[in-house]
Amino acid sequence: MASTASTASTHGAEVLVASNRGPVSYEVRPDVGDGSLHAKRGGGGLVSGLSAIGSDANALWVCAALSDGDREAVRRGVGEPGVRMLDIPADVHADAYNGIANSVLWFVHHMLYQTPLEPVFDAEFRRQWASYEAYNRAFAQALAEEAAEGASVVIQDYHLALAPRMLRHLRPDLRIGHFSHTPWASPDYFRLLPDDIAAELLGGILGADRAAFLTQRWADAFTACCHSVLGPGIPSGTRIGVHGLGADADFLRERAHRPDVAERMTALRAEIGAAPDGGARKTIVRVDRTELSKNIVRGLLAYRQLLDDHPEWRERVVHVAFAYPSRQDLAVYRDYTAEVQRVAEEINSAYGTPDWTPVVLHVKDDFARSLAAYRLADVALVNPIRDGMNLVAKEIPVVSDAGCVLVLSREAGAYEELGEDALTVNPYDITGTARALHQALTMPDGERAERTKRLAAAATALPPAQWFLDQLHALDA
Ligand code: F6P
Repeated sequence: MASTASTASTHGAEVLVASNRGPVSYEVRPDVGDGSLHAKRGGGGLVSGLSAIGSDANALWVCAALSDGDREAVRRGVGEPGVRMLDIPADVHADAYNGIANSVLWFVHHMLYQTPLEPVFDAEFRRQWASYEAYNRAFAQALAEEAAEGASVVIQDYHLALAPRMLRHLRPDLRIGHFSHTPWASPDYFRLLPDDIAAELLGGILGADRAAFLTQRWADAFTACCHSVLGPGIPSGTRIGVHGLGADADFLRERAHRPDVAERMTALRAEIGAAPDGGARKTIVRVDRTELSKNIVRGLLAYRQLLDDHPEWRERVVHVAFAYPSRQDLAVYRDYTAEVQRVAEEINSAYGTPDWTPVVLHVKDDFARSLAAYRLADVALVNPIRDGMNLVAKEIPVVSDAGCVLVLSREAGAYEELGEDALTVNPYDITGTARALHQALTMPDGERAERTKRLAAAATALPPAQWFLDQLHALDA
């Protein structure tokens, strides 16, 4: 089913990564007469990890074509060395990615359902599930074709939960790892899924030699689901591991001091403005995808509560909220994005003055501006309903210029490592979050600086390259 733009060695790759979203994406440039393809390279833990094993390592990244530009690249045979893009039929990909992965599995692991009315597992769900199986099979087949004898394969995330077992059947000689970047649901919530689907998902991952997670809590939840759905014991002998991805301090500190970030800081300072006494206004910063699980709306409501409970903060604080569009093919994400904007506008019209905009909201993705906000932050608000890790919580203390108080949800994976030096909140508790924001804004400078130092050390304990290498070594062991 899948056609390819492959530059893999005919001898087979020794290390393979498989993920839905790859390290590069293509855009057809209508402004360029010949319809040239523009390649955009992404960052993140896997990119750093793969570069750490060196260019001689004969590595291959297998990913899906996501956009029209990607599909065009595959058709034209355009590709990056070390990347194989699978042109899975668009309707199959949409069912697997939007239908199953993002609308069912993401919702289960992040507990996002409004259960009186959803989920509904009907014939349409079964039809989409068949696409999810086909999509996983396309990956398993491509990996089986490309891997050298005894190669190591690390398969990423909930999109590809079935691929490990499928690949094991095709190539029993391989060392197969699976890594979950999300939380894992507790058995009660996981068992919202039909029993056969729950068993297939677990059995798919148990096809791997090793199943790894971002925190012990998610690893334990996976084991508990196996016991609850499949019976006691991990039947296949799959090993369970934990690798808490950290922030990339060297990259962030260098990138955050480039001129484009300095320009954005100037612009942001102008938007934030000065307090009535002429002093600097305090900033409460958040940077997220407009993602249901990030809890942006409750963050805004907590900020409004702070302005009600502590009117002394009016004109003296600004909530800088960057909410970048995500998964906009799904109506529920479009509605959520609109709700974020509506609540921000409501706060601005209720409390704003000619000289003060209480919420500075930006929705256009701009990495340099995100880093500028990180540097300026007095308080970082990271209050997800649930999150696999949350790298923003780890990045802000590393980049912050003057030290920053972290208000952190106890449901974020990062809580395991950062909980002690953050002010932690129950993400549903608006009153409690408002109280934590006040406490953060009034924390003495010395304490804030000390906590930031410890947060930055904990946040960078396992940099992305080491995180990836550790997984490979553990798979070899
Ligand atoms: O595991 C979560 C994750 O897949 C991340 O790796 C990624 O940053 C995020 O979700 C966004 O996902 P998408 O590829 O759907 O935009």
